Amino acid sequence: MAATTRQREQWSSQTGFILAAIGSAVGLGNIWRFPGVAYENGGGAFLIPYLFALLTAGIPILFLDYAIGHRFRGTAPLAFRRLHKNTEVVGWFQIILSFVISVYYAAVIAWALSYFVFSFDLRWAPDSLNFFVGDYLQVGDPEISTQIVSGVAIPLVVVWVAILVTLALGVAKGVEKANMIFLPLLVVAFIGLVIRAVTLPGAADGLNALFTPDWSELFNPAVWIAAYAQIFFSLSIAFGIMITYSSYQRRKANMTSSGLVVGFANSSFEILAGIGVFATLGFLAWDQSTTVGELEGLSGPILSFVTFPAVIAEMPGGSFFGLVFFASLVMAGFTSIISILQGVSGAVQDKFGFGVRQSAVGVSLVCAVISIALFSTTSGLIALDTVDQWANNIGIVLSAIVMTVLLVWVLRRGEELRFHLNAVSTFKIGRWWILLIGVLAPLLLGYMLLQRIITLLT
Ligand code: PHE
Repeated sequence: MAATTRQREQWSSQTGFILAAIGSAVGLGNIWRFPGVAYENGGGAFLIPYLFALLTAGIPILFLDYAIGHRFRGTAPLAFRRLHKNTEVVGWFQIILSFVISVYYAAVIAWALSYFVFSFDLRWAPDSLNFFVGDYLQVGDPEISTQIVSGVAIPLVVVWVAILVTLALGVAKGVEKANMIFLPLLVVAFIGLVIRAVTLPGAADGLNALFTPDWSELFNPAVWIAAYAQIFFSLSIAFGIMITYSSYQRRKANMTSSGLVVGFANSSFEILAGIGVFATLGFLAWDQSTTVGELEGLSGPILSFVTFPAVIAEMPGGSFFGLVFFASLVMAGFTSIISILQGVSGAVQDKFGFGVRQSAVGVSLVCAVISIALFSTTSGLIALDTVDQWANNIGIVLSAIVMTVLLVWVLRRGEELRFHLNAVSTFKIGRWWILLIGVLAPLLLGYMLLQRIITLLT
């Protein structure tokens, strides 16, 4: 119980909290996931389900996370235990999801860090695909598959040390400071990239490919599911992370207004990334005398580590573009992964009464060892892909359903949380909020979960 009597850590300002929450939301998902998802799901028309998902589920569930963390002043497990003695397990489930995600998320940041260095001499040219899976990751080489691939292990160690140090410095001096530095830098770097991208030859074709609406897609349920999935991952909701972050807010803090700022800032960044990525792809198509529709590898790791490097090698001033692009990936990823691990480390503090430093060191070391063991061997890489599929596609949706149904229907605490938010915030929420989180969100998420289980099992 020592933990609950000790003074809880706090953000040093409301701006610090908002920046950290935006830092968590804006991550790899914004840069490599959104553009491809939008393109494949109706282009410009995708913005309609996307905005609908943001308003009906994203922001309302973000408010719910905020309400739980702020009212019960704990990381997910402690907050849920204070809500009801039997619901602590929901919090731990979210912590496990965070843990799984952190292990692979760190690896991707490490890859980006390597590619930052490779940008100096464009080491991946002339064949970026062969370089990535062959020379760099050494996938499929039976000799090496169980040995340490040193090219990945070293940047991974660097990333984990940076995470450990940031967490050990505490919420205000570590996490908040890191966001104060990296988030403005990221915005400037990214705007620079987008300006360069839209002035490349072929950029307009890329933007047309992304934004030309295919209205018929609006009648396709898969497109709506994709929109909800994107919003969830992108806003970092239902991972317990926003519960943790809001537990460090002062008692009098404008919660709902902050949520609106975070939600809209994240989506703006996402759309900006879409413009940057597709303008660049338009250039690639122009360079290869083809169309964007004919290109492959438009999202995920392949976009960042194969397609983009290929473009960078072709473009005038490519090295510089590469440096800024990979630095942006590292910064966006870093401010997200520290939020994930702060959730885990904070939970250990709340549960066992460890101090900030002890728990930061302990959690980072355990996660680092697992992440390095898995990601510097190629066999681990494949195993993790399966785990990630389940955590990301099933786990997170399940977590959101359990959380909303539990609060609104089983424990019937929705109104209490609504009053709590309204008592501290300037943007007041009406009963529509309960309807959204209690009825619409669980129905849509339930449908989504079924669909996904069916696809994964077949
Ligand atoms: N929101 C982050 C992104 O868009 C990812 C993330 C997920 C961060 C879950 C924290 C928790 O990349």
